[in-house]
Amino acid sequence: MPVQRDEQELTTYFADAPEDVSLADVDLERLPSHISVIMDGNGRWATRQGMERGQGHIAGIASLRETITACVRLGIDVLSAYAFSTENWKRPQQEVDLLMHLFATTLVKELPLFHQENVRLEFLGDIEALPQKTREVFEEGLSETADHTGMTLALAVNYGARAELARAARLIASKVKEGTLSVDDVDAACVSSHLYTADLPDPELLIRTSGELRLSNYLLWQLAYSEFYITDTLWPDFDRWELLRAIRAFQGRDRRFGGVKA
Ligand code: IPE
Ligand code: IPE
Ligand code: MG
Repeated sequence: MPVQRDEQELTTYFADAPEDVSLADVDLERLPSHISVIMDGNGRWATRQGMERGQGHIAGIASLRETITACVRLGIDVLSAYAFSTENWKRPQQEVDLLMHLFATTLVKELPLFHQENVRLEFLGDIEALPQKTREVFEEGLSETADHTGMTLALAVNYGARAELARAARLIASKVKEGTLSVDDVDAACVSSHLYTADLPDPELLIRTSGELRLSNYLLWQLAYSEFYITDTLWPDFDRWELLRAIRAFQGRDRRFGGVKA
């Protein structure tokens, strides 16, 4: 069942629109049910302002908060966001430590928002391998929001699509070996049901900030038929209006799924 939205709150949230985009530009009856974001460009944003990269990550938190609120106001069912990849461990230890610290402290700070907005939290990725404090806070976030019935926020942390697919293959192989799954039943739906996203619909719209034209090991399976919106805007500058621009672009696409134009 689609998430409910409050029309009054929605209009208020999207008041004071800039010149080029407004709420009237999007069809509220045809919103993507799952929006996914690759939150990129924090480091460049900070460097351009003459600051340390870490300041960019701190600034990026506000963009995620605004995107969550905007999606809740619009009544989006699922918002997923790429926060830390399996390759991001290669970064300088100081940056990795800061990110792990920010994940933990931000989640604690934002729990009241999740309660207020009825947001259910999920994690995509191997959160077992995270530093203990971060893992504990994540587990607390999961249990505290498990009963929420509004938007699902899926945060990809220590996520890599290749690792996810290899994990699915392992899970499936062990079921076959145990005799609880037949080889003939291993189809696309079966693979989907062994991914971190098993309970989520595939993203309909993928947004990547900072202009990079690549997936960086994100949701390789799930993005098979998603519409891509790439913006040069750096993540700390991303806001509710940029989200509307992305949705407007999505609604202008002709999605054929391999068929012919309707
Ligand atoms: C995205 O911003 C945040 C993470 C990957 C954690 P970056 O840190 O990749 O910023 P750029 O791409 O270096 O500007
Ligand atoms: C992708 O961004 C990962 C996240 C946004 C968390 P990266 O900055 O790590 O990607 P590359 O290195 O530019 O491909
Ligand atoms: Mg980057």
